[in-house]
Amino acid sequence: MSATIIDGAHVADTILADAREQAAEFERKAGRRACLATVLVGDDPASHTYVRMKTNRCRTTGLDSRSHHVAATATTTDVTTLVDELSGDDSVDGILVQHPMPAQIDEREVFEAITPTKDVDGVTMASFAAMALGGRGFQACTPAGIIHLLDAYGVDPTGLHSVVVGRSPILGKPVGMLLLARNATVTYCHARTSDLPGIIAAADIVVAAVGRPELIKGAWIKPGAVVIDAGYNPGNIGDVEYAPAAERASLITPVPGGVGPTTIAVLLHQTVTAAVQSAGVPTTGV
Ligand code: GUN
Repeated sequence: MSATIIDGAHVADTILADAREQAAEFERKAGRRACLATVLVGDDPASHTYVRMKTNRCRTTGLDSRSHHVAATATTTDVTTLVDELSGDDSVDGILVQHPMPAQIDEREVFEAITPTKDVDGVTMASFAAMALGGRGFQACTPAGIIHLLDAYGVDPTGLHSVVVGRSPILGKPVGMLLLARNATVTYCHARTSDLPGIIAAADIVVAAVGRPELIKGAWIKPGAVVIDAGYNPGNIGDVEYAPAAERASLITPVPGGVGPTTIAVLLHQTVTAAVQSAGVPTTGV
């Protein structure tokens, strides 16, 4: 079997088209553009690239963005003070604090400084709780993007054994909750899981979200499984050994061009939604 390759850029374009339409309508009615504030702490080149991609995409989608770069030597208080200011700034609709931050920063404390109404990246505990319990709130962007990909390719997770490899607060944990909400049977695996090959071999859907290059071998994939590789590693290498996995899977995401584009699209879409909700401006559409 040779897998169909999931076109993440195409799925992202459909999300962005809706965001663009709503952003234009918001601008017409509110007299200003929806605005995403980004916070980047330190000098990680990959993080710089990701943040630049997000602000560039704001521009091409009709949103404003405001970039804040904080020194690598900053303290947790330095960063939470900035995020507090952005949380209280009426000209900012959404806040993205890029992960990972330098080791001395308490990431959880920084994320919790984002007011939930501007948590368009879905990283606060309030957003996680709303997502897990089916309440109103913003979803973690990569998990939500993965659900968009499954929907776009007609994959209904109901009853399917979905194995999530990774348990990070903004990726592994929430994507498992979203799959559970879609009636999947979910198994979480992580660095201490024994018999990872055996568990993967029984998976109908594999979500790789562990950040270890090619940890998941192609030979472990059950023939016909759906493989979603959300790993981001230096050099554009995913968490899945791509070529042999593509021989066995029915659907597979490439790296890059699979999950990544949908993450950004969801972020922008949620920023426009936050703007509409904060301004109380009625719009048509989603
Ligand atoms: N780093 C990699 N992916 C993400 C994401 O979705 N949100 C944030 N804040 N940082 C990231």
